[in-house]
Amino acid sequence: MLGLPRPSSISIRNIGPFDLGRLARLHRNCFEEAWSRADLAHLLAIPGGFGLIARVYDGGLAGLDGMRGVGFALCRVVRDESELLSIGVMPAYRKRGVARALLRASMDRCLRNGADNMFLEVAVDNPAAQQLYDEAGFERVGSRPDYYQRADGSRVTAYTMRSHLVGLAGRRDMHVQAGTDLGSGG
Ligand SMILES: CC(C)(COP(=O)(O)OP(=O)(O)OC[C@H]1O[C@@H](n2cnc3c(N)ncnc32)[C@H](O)[C@@H]1OP(=O)(O)O)[C@@H](O)C(=O)NCCC(=O)NCCS
Repeated sequence: MLGLPRPSSISIRNIGPFDLGRLARLHRNCFEEAWSRADLAHLLAIPGGFGLIARVYDGGLAGLDGMRGVGFALCRVVRDESELLSIGVMPAYRKRGVARALLRASMDRCLRNGADNMFLEVAVDNPAAQQLYDEAGFERVGSRPDYYQRADGSRVTAYTMRSHLVGLAGRRDMHVQAGTDLGSGG
């Protein structure tokens, strides 16, 4: 799929109970260390937890991957704070704006669910994700030594980043531009 034009439309919808299989597949495709269906079900079941899945449509002709989902985001809202627990896009669909759409939809949803801020952790050796978050208005507020453990056993420090959702709420580009469908999953 590499070399395709940017998708004409990115559709974001809620992850529902019947999406666990495809969510596990997406996570496995995005991260060295795959989370199990049970792990993912647990995250979605915690109070305030929710997930979003992104689909792409290329000129109205969606491939199977595009229809099943090419990216995901998992979040949690606890009172006035929220956390981006994970976000990933399948390698073949990266650099086409999918993560940006997922992040904006996540921020928008957390704000509507009562969060003033969103926090996240990102590995110091993950410049792509850092750039994504910088561009979305996140700022570094701390670091956590040895936060991540790699498959080879090595440890990596994480930055903690924060976005003031309330401050961004008035910005027009806070909202997903096109094709957003936050209907229930299934
Ligand atoms: C990080 C990740 C989610 C980005 O997904 P994506 O769909 O390719 O990102 P987008 O196309 O929406 O990019 C939005 C912005 O993020 C930044 N960005 C994305 N990929 C980048 C890269 N490889 N290098 C530098 N900046 C990058 C850019 O600022 C980009 O804006 P631009 O296209 O106008 O330059 C994706 O690379 C991924 O799934 N990585 C593996 C999982 C992961 O690391 N998740 C984050 C854990 S904290």
